Amino acid sequence: MNETASEFQKTKELSDKYLLDLFNRYPVAFRYGVNELLFDQNNKQYIDFLSGVAVTNLGHSDPDIIEVIRNQIDKLMHTSNWFYSEEASRLAELLILNTFPGKVFLCNSGTEATEAAFKLARAYAEQKQIHDPIIISLHKSFHGRSVSGISLTGQKKLHTGFGKLLEGIEFVSPNSEEELVEAFERFAGRVVAFIAEPIIGESGIIPLSHGYMNLARELTSENEALLILDEIQTGFGRTGTMFAFETYGFSPDVMTLAKGLGSGFPIGALIVAEKYQNVLAKGTHGTTYGGNHLGAAIAYETIRIIQTRDVLANVNSCSEIAFSRLNQMKQKNKIVKEVRGKGLHIGVELTIPSRPVAETCLEKGLIVNATGDTVIRIMPPLTISTQYLNEGLDIIESVLAEAHK
Ligand SMILES: Cc1ncc(COP(=O)(O)O)c(C=O)c1O
Repeated sequence: MNETASEFQKTKELSDKYLLDLFNRYPVAFRYGVNELLFDQNNKQYIDFLSGVAVTNLGHSDPDIIEVIRNQIDKLMHTSNWFYSEEASRLAELLILNTFPGKVFLCNSGTEATEAAFKLARAYAEQKQIHDPIIISLHKSFHGRSVSGISLTGQKKLHTGFGKLLEGIEFVSPNSEEELVEAFERFAGRVVAFIAEPIIGESGIIPLSHGYMNLARELTSENEALLILDEIQTGFGRTGTMFAFETYGFSPDVMTLAKGLGSGFPIGALIVAEKYQNVLAKGTHGTTYGGNHLGAAIAYETIRIIQTRDVLANVNSCSEIAFSRLNQMKQKNKIVKEVRGKGLHIGVELTIPSRPVAETCLEKGLIVNATGDTVIRIMPPLTISTQYLNEGLDIIESVLAEAHK
């Protein structure tokens, strides 16, 4: 065994011995990254088509993000939400200016944003004196791993093994207008919220149609229910606009955010429209770390960079290249069943299991994610160059061609 191979072996042994065995890890440990590239302990180069699951949207080691981190840690990292914070207040203003009028709760992750949204929906039910409230969610959705997160998640495999989940959550099929209307009718007077991701991510990139989202807006408004959009994965430029909802022509009542907000630093946010901004009253929710000085400074800089560096233009031009090449692959290769998504949030549905394809891509120096059993998910940094985008697509093309033989 050479020295670097044994270095990985040592990392793997320590992980296997001391970290809970919860993840189906790929056999690599990364040491550093530069924009769309990652390098392992052997200095082998990989093109990153995963972005830490839609997190490092500005790539790795962005100089402006590094500068903000350095400046901020020299001053202050954390105090407490018991005090005012220049960084958190500036970030909240920027989030509201880029979404819809209302107020922000800052937390540390997507799951925590979901938890806050769930508590808000339950508090709203109390306010309306609805004692058996219903939240409508979608089959195949994913909203996080806490108990409220899995309760709202429409995947049976994530529900089992933890006893009774939270009550009052009903699931309907994504894009089925009939089922949505039927659910609002069946639970008339009890529906307090509808929650959805604009593009369902974890089950293999399933975009919700504009017609469906418009119907959801109409039904929630008519029934005085909250329209909660989970933009944890789609937010911050991933789909070609700052937020996916911008193309709908209306805004949600509540939005959950995380992932790309912190460029790798854990931070999440709940945005609540003006009308509902007092539903969660003082003292009814909180967090120790959420929106601390460091996280808020990084998130502010992340949004500033997206707005000032033509990041969205890059997403849209790279998206055109990726969709065009992937659709060509679909024409040539029967293994490719469908290409879905928007911007740089792309799913390639295969006729074969996707995990072995992702493993072979990794061996060839490309990181892609296998999701929903047969889907390859492509989510490169929004700042990816066309050179590495094309090189990554070349690898996918050759691996799929090989698999087709
Ligand atoms: C749509 C969506 N919601 C919620 C979450 C949970 O976020 P976190 O893993 O930060 O808790 C995720 C994570 O993958 C997600 O994709």
